[in-house]
Amino acid sequence: MKIDVLLGLQWGDEGKGKIVDVLTPDYDVVARFQGGPNAGHTIEFDGKKFVLHTIPSGVFNPGCINLIGNGVIIDPLILQAEIKKLVQSGIDVTKNLFISRKAHLILPTHRLMDAAQEASKGAAKIGSTLKGIGPTYTDKIARNGIRIGDSCLENFKSRYELQRTRHLKLVKDLDFDYSSYKIDGQDFDAYEKQWLSALEFIKSLQLVDSEYFINEQLAAGKRILAEGAQGTLLDIDFGSYPFVTSSNTTSAGVCSGLGIAPNKVGEVLGIFKAYCTRVGSGPFSTELFDEDGELMRKQGNEFGSTTGRPRRCGWIDLPALKYAVMLNGVTALFMMKADVLDSFERLKLAVAYRYKGEVITHLPFDACTQELEPVYEELPGWKTTLQDMKSANDLPQALQDFIRFIEDYVNVPVKLVSTGPDRLQLIRM
Ligand code: IMP
Repeated sequence: MKIDVLLGLQWGDEGKGKIVDVLTPDYDVVARFQGGPNAGHTIEFDGKKFVLHTIPSGVFNPGCINLIGNGVIIDPLILQAEIKKLVQSGIDVTKNLFISRKAHLILPTHRLMDAAQEASKGAAKIGSTLKGIGPTYTDKIARNGIRIGDSCLENFKSRYELQRTRHLKLVKDLDFDYSSYKIDGQDFDAYEKQWLSALEFIKSLQLVDSEYFINEQLAAGKRILAEGAQGTLLDIDFGSYPFVTSSNTTSAGVCSGLGIAPNKVGEVLGIFKAYCTRVGSGPFSTELFDEDGELMRKQGNEFGSTTGRPRRCGWIDLPALKYAVMLNGVTALFMMKADVLDSFERLKLAVAYRYKGEVITHLPFDACTQELEPVYEELPGWKTTLQDMKSANDLPQALQDFIRFIEDYVNVPVKLVSTGPDRLQLIRM
């Protein structure tokens, strides 16, 4: 058996949660391999809406095992709140939830450091979700981190104190007055108290040596889906650095984030929106500042599911999509939110960039500091509502042409088209 991978090909928020939820009946295990509660995977069904931050999206399927892998970083308080909310909605989460002992902890002081570092950057800030992602991964790489498994060891308290003291000094050095800073609406001391109590709760869950766990599942012939968070263009190595997140969001992250060998990776399912969005800072060459962008934001409800921030909106960027397909080895594409473009007369697709007097189709190294002016191809819009369409044959010709254009550009077939937020609004091509 092989592990299939599902990940975002743009700047996150492509609609991965919905697709994982739809695909889970085909899988026995869903595993998160990177990122943390900066993610917000939205799933809607039966008129209810859920946003998952740390828990894999297979949780709504009673038979599905959900694994939080070693590459994920965990804030116990956020995870506990997520579990409580699901339990209140009648979803028995904990029975099928397994957590890697090697997953690193986001400490309350990591949250402070994130805020202090962002504030110190001024106009050059990353636009972080302020969930402590950068500082936690920094400590992991610098070999200062504390893992979930470490919290069960005798020396946990002293290690925690050591990091806490070090972090508070760093925060002070950045002239950040944390006494007036609120973490998720709370003072630091109150947050820390609850965090420590939430950690006790997390320790009572099923902690595993996840690299063995997942390889045993594989050997037992179980079908496994690795669920990516954020998107390829936010990858720490290949995204628009430094305006990126701090993990490998590409398929390469599956191996290090779960402990599986590269030859165990099967299908790579790439999710993209029929247009583009981005939250936070960083280059976005097809970004719109006019009424078209406003319409996308309104129709697509493009507001961050973790932070509530309005998302920047723009036309689809095909050189960037092709780059993402290349990096991940994408074998099938899923196109999301086609319905958001229902009322557009004309649609634009970036096919190249003007850069330093040349026309190029690759992403240059200095894409963050040099202007990339998009070269567009225009296609007619379909000008009809897709919401109630049930099969590929129903799709208007203009949408079929739009899809064909993308497929020809990136050389991978579009297998699913999403036409609305509900799990049923999905057309198999
Ligand atoms: P961080 O990962 O919270 O440090 O944020 C770094 C950058 O990635 C910021 O621009 C965030 O807005 C962006 N980002 C982080 N997580 C997500 C996500 O799940 N969806 C979309 N953007 C994200």
